[in-house]
Amino acid sequence: MSQTEPKPILFSGIQPSGHIHLGNYIGAMRNFKLLEDQYDCLFSIVDLHALTVRQEPASLRRQTLELAAMYIAAGLNPAESIIYCQSHVPQHAELAWILNCFTYMGELSRMTQFKDKAKKHQDNINAGLFTYPVLMAADILLYQTDVVPVGADQKQHIELARDIAQRFNAIHPGVFKVPEGYIPRQTAKIMSLTEPGKKMSKSDSDDSMISFTDTPPEIRRKIKRAVTDSDAEIRFDRRNKPGVSNLLGILSVCSGEKVDKICQRLEGKGYGALKEETAEAVVAMLAPVQERFHTLMEDKAYLAETLRNNAQRAQKLAQRTLQKAYKKLGLYQP
Ligand code: TYM
Repeated sequence: MSQTEPKPILFSGIQPSGHIHLGNYIGAMRNFKLLEDQYDCLFSIVDLHALTVRQEPASLRRQTLELAAMYIAAGLNPAESIIYCQSHVPQHAELAWILNCFTYMGELSRMTQFKDKAKKHQDNINAGLFTYPVLMAADILLYQTDVVPVGADQKQHIELARDIAQRFNAIHPGVFKVPEGYIPRQTAKIMSLTEPGKKMSKSDSDDSMISFTDTPPEIRRKIKRAVTDSDAEIRFDRRNKPGVSNLLGILSVCSGEKVDKICQRLEGKGYGALKEETAEAVVAMLAPVQERFHTLMEDKAYLAETLRNNAQRAQKLAQRTLQKAYKKLGLYQP
């Protein structure tokens, strides 16, 4: 984060749960890199959010470090952008409590992600799962964030964060910046390879997603088996041809070629050709990033030191907002 000329502030977060997949990479990380120069950025590894579903402790620890390495491998610069772990900055949990007192049960009950996750984890519908969006609002509002780049699945949470900020400010003026979501249309929703009517998701089967660390043969195999449809026309039509449209979208983002052009070029060539090109484009895009990732994972001391330093930078910024909120609320500060 630049010390000299303040830029608008960008915040985003990714959970270190399950496999980081192609949806997370092209829906989030890759966009972060494209925006890094224009903003003062914070990229969080939101480990407290991951606790809303049961995690195996050793896996959570490993995935946290891996996610730090992925952020850096994706090209983000941890000497500029603040890449840090949410649980290292206690102000997140503190502000979340305050914001809980400014959020209504009815609002949280309407969150589609809560409803989906509650259905999936019926044996563990905990209060954290319910108040998850409040912690997310705290993440964003702590840093006076201007813009929050995310995939389409987070839109409702961003809207809630805005509502909470406005509600708080209406009673205690001037504490929070009201953030804007940024959801690039082309990468907003990468769909599952096996069920293209559903988004690609960390908690689904391995074959439904391309994992960040999949090898080229694995990527080729999964894309070859991706569900398409029974006619053979290569055409972008999300409603009637979700599988083909998903592959076209992925190929377009990875290669930089427009969807229309791809359709013209591949006319009459069949789904085999589309799958082959898509697989090769994904392999080519991920290969250099994966190589940097593996190199970074060999230097755990560097990753640990980076997370430590960046947590301190984040704490300083977070404390300013928290202090302001405490003061306005009338919490006695000796
Ligand atoms: P998470 O960890 O599920 O996903 C991380 C980012 O990846 C995007 N994403 C996708 N984009 C396109 N296609 C998909 N199939 C796809 N799946 C996931 C997500 O939209 C997200 O941008 N609640 C957040 C993490 C979070 C956060 C925040 C984000 C916590 N606090 C503050 C922004 C700001 C989440 O679970 O993301």
